Amino acid sequence: MRVKVNGELCQGHNRCYALAPDLFDVDDFGYAHARFEDTLPVEMEPLARLAEANCPEHAVGLLDL
Ligand code: F3S
Repeated sequence: MRVKVNGELCQGHNRCYALAPDLFDVDDFGYAHARFEDTLPVEMEPLARLAEANCPEHAVGLLDL
């Protein structure tokens, strides 16, 4: 699985970062980006799904490989 944040949709709610700080980081303006460019470790997939489900802008995207 891969995780991405759509920068055009992200409004800086930071729920992703609050729920999964190992997966996401935020810039000085509060907008998020994923820490992992490549495939996530399997043990992190539940956190990625939690972040996806909790982003009110639907900005967190998951790609099942
Ligand atoms: Fe942005 Fe959604 Fe996270 S709006 S900061 S991707 S919770």
